[in-house]
Amino acid sequence: MQTQIAVIDYGSQYSQLIVRRIRELGYFSRLYRPDELTTIGSPTGVILSGGPRSVTDTDAPDVDFDFLVGLKVPVLGICYGMQLLNRKLGGVVSKSTTSEYGPAEMVVENRNTLLENVRSPSRIWMSHSDTCTQWPEGTEILAHNKEGQPVALQFNDLMYGIQFHPEVTHTEEGTGVLRNYLSMVEEDGLFSMDQFKQALIDSIHKQVAGKKVVCGVSGGVDSSVLAVLLHQAGVDVHCISVDHGLLRKGEADEVKAQFEELGIQIDLVDASERFLNALAGVDQPEEKRKIIGRLFIDVFWDHAGEVEMFAQGTLYPDVIESATSGSDASTIKTHHNRVEKVLELQAEGKVIEPLAELFKDEVRALGKSLGMPPHILWRHPFPGPGLAVRVPGEITPEKLDILREADAIYIQELRDSGWYDRIWQACTSLLPCKTVGVKGDVRAYEYPIVLRAVISEDAMTADWVEIEHAVMRTISNRILNEVKHVNRVLYDISTKPPASIEWE
Ligand code: XMP
Repeated sequence: MQTQIAVIDYGSQYSQLIVRRIRELGYFSRLYRPDELTTIGSPTGVILSGGPRSVTDTDAPDVDFDFLVGLKVPVLGICYGMQLLNRKLGGVVSKSTTSEYGPAEMVVENRNTLLENVRSPSRIWMSHSDTCTQWPEGTEILAHNKEGQPVALQFNDLMYGIQFHPEVTHTEEGTGVLRNYLSMVEEDGLFSMDQFKQALIDSIHKQVAGKKVVCGVSGGVDSSVLAVLLHQAGVDVHCISVDHGLLRKGEADEVKAQFEELGIQIDLVDASERFLNALAGVDQPEEKRKIIGRLFIDVFWDHAGEVEMFAQGTLYPDVIESATSGSDASTIKTHHNRVEKVLELQAEGKVIEPLAELFKDEVRALGKSLGMPPHILWRHPFPGPGLAVRVPGEITPEKLDILREADAIYIQELRDSGWYDRIWQACTSLLPCKTVGVKGDVRAYEYPIVLRAVISEDAMTADWVEIEHAVMRTISNRILNEVKHVNRVLYDISTKPPASIEWE
């Protein structure tokens, strides 16, 4: 699909978020490296993101300014992007000795199009150290902060700069500012998921060209949407689901039933014994992950046999994280998605990644457009290594059974009380220690169970959920009464960061 709004990434931690917000406002947006500007085609708007560097550095990331001007489209520079525009147009950017991070106040001076209907004063979110100290002739100051420094400038008819981040929710009028910017952009039809779905189906037809496609499914949202998309595109798809023995209670059967409901035949490969044997005696988290990862690949590809085409559920954040910032998060996901066999197939042009343009919430919207039921689309995420990341220390069949029972009660109670849909992910872990308790007048040493429930946007950060106490009490009572070998139930009240969502 043609990019409407191109976001040029200067390395800000919020660059992805700009793309998301623009798409939420109905325009199809993608993230590009600065050197890709000339390859985009004809975007109807360009946003230059913020970034950690100083435009005054000799090797600072640049922009092909003549090309940008030649596009004759509205340009919005955010922080670094604003300073870059200012400098290119003949203004001065000075290094500050102090930095400004966090909340500030914006006072609007000139309600031209960019700040139309924006409340004043309003809270904005800053993250910069350099400042524009002189600006090109003809520049209009649209807003300033409490100290009187400009935070929004109009350089000319098409170029605007803002010193704050409109994409973060802490900027009260951020969406309004972005909406105003988009109102200046020539609209060639708003981005709709139905239209996008059709474009995807057309491109799948071209790529697949009648070949048989192998697809791994886990029952999670991404792989389910992928399988349904391929199925509805009329592709001959061979879905394989590997049961590594680390699934939740009844999950293997549920996955099978779920795909039956969707009209798709799957091969369920029960390899649980192989996995549990390989994990016996292993207590180091990374070692466990490696064993599971390697064995999963062996089992999956042995079963798949000769592959004509392979479909993979890579999402847009994975693609742009590995293409741009190279953050830790991307290393984790890259490790999961780009295994050797897949790289081999990729080199032969046999891999398709139809969801690679989409954010998680857009995958759900695509699923909805494909007619998939909400209970599949709104399932909580579940990690590839399954319950292994929820049993710190050695994994044994006994511990897995205990955890499965406790988890089933937790999830069922969350569903029954209506909390499940208000939570982004709920998980249950079993701690590798036994604590003292009293059962039937005797002291008993048994396992503690930890419950966790978080809200999050794509797992980058997370906050714990304040579940109603009466519901917590029911869950705790049921686990303590119904699950053998458990005498303590804890609730994890840690944010991410510093804690992660999973315990291992
Ligand atoms: P953390 O624990 O890193 O989790 O805050 C963030 C999200 O990723 C999931 N997760 C994994 N998914 N393989 C996966 O496929 C893994 O090794 C893995 N570890 C964590 C986790 O469930 C959460 O949704």
